[in-house]
Amino acid sequence: MDKKENEIDKIFSEAKDFLPILGIDYIEFYVGNAKQSAYFYKSALGFESEAYSGLETGNNEEVSYVIKQDKIRFVLTSSYKKDSLVNEHYLKHGDGVKFVAFLVEDSKKSYEETIKRGAKSFLEPIEVSDEKGKIVKSGIFTYGETVHLFIERKNYKGVFLPGFQNWNNDFSPPPVGLKYVDHIVGNVGWNEMDKWCNFYRDVLGFTQIVSFDDNDISTEYTALMSKVMSNGNGRVKFPINEPAEGLNKSQIEEYLDFYNGPGVQHLALATDNIIMTVEDMKKRGIEFLYVPETYYDDLIERVGHIEEDVNLLRKNGILIDRDDDGYLLQIFTKPLVHRPTIFFEIIQRRGANSFGKGNFKALFLAIEREQRSRGTL
Ligand code: FE2
Repeated sequence: MDKKENEIDKIFSEAKDFLPILGIDYIEFYVGNAKQSAYFYKSALGFESEAYSGLETGNNEEVSYVIKQDKIRFVLTSSYKKDSLVNEHYLKHGDGVKFVAFLVEDSKKSYEETIKRGAKSFLEPIEVSDEKGKIVKSGIFTYGETVHLFIERKNYKGVFLPGFQNWNNDFSPPPVGLKYVDHIVGNVGWNEMDKWCNFYRDVLGFTQIVSFDDNDISTEYTALMSKVMSNGNGRVKFPINEPAEGLNKSQIEEYLDFYNGPGVQHLALATDNIIMTVEDMKKRGIEFLYVPETYYDDLIERVGHIEEDVNLLRKNGILIDRDDDGYLLQIFTKPLVHRPTIFFEIIQRRGANSFGKGNFKALFLAIEREQRSRGTL
């Protein structure tokens, strides 16, 4: 047994649920211009080229650029055709996440188990092969038009998936230190949070690990509710937000308006050194939400001793929160696309397993400032 198999075996035995998920295989965005998006993620976030599919590989329908950084893999896909599912999705939602693909041991079984429990089918299990082996993939819908794919690749030795070739590109900016996807947050419609949490519980066997109500997450003006669902081995965490009544429009409503429905709101990407990662991203043009300096005035009283230099945290606008297990550092980008929809969170965990509840207020005030500037509050 080689090292990789050993590793997979270990992960697999930890998961006692009916749907063992080995990790997030990739996140695929449907975008207007995949080539330029790939350039953006490489330049501004330090992703590197991995694989490519398009006209040159015999794909006349759509083009995909695959990029990665440590354990994070993104696929950026655009269509060559006027009428296509990709373009329909793009026209309706703008650039957004279409697939959150899970790495699984058995795609067919994952599909059958989840369909049996009430999932809506997106793709029945199919085998795709080339000279490097075969993969099996299948998929089910989650909120909105977002899809979970089950990717089984234990019999595949090629780059990414059959039909892809290596993407060799001389342009390779250095990474910014992003390591893995910590959590993926979905925004769903009014009163739909429980429905989708139940979906993750009943259909995928997840459990609820945290819940926030509008008392936790509200300012004078805007509110939302949130619950966090996790799979059996804790590798995959999905917070689900719904809007709540406030004096003004909830940030979740703004998202729903501009995305035209539910979808992925943010991806939280983990780093081992948030100060370095954020300083690097800023130099490359990424804009972050601004937090007033007063946030730092009573920081040490609130969170106790931390390893980082508070001046550097203040300078970069990085937020800190503590729970029973430790603390975490986090910061949020402004929307990464032209619509006020998807954004990223950069997170560094120092023991804490929570999601920064203590920062919600400061954060939402910052988001409201942005909404006000867009005239959407
Ligand atoms: Fe988050």
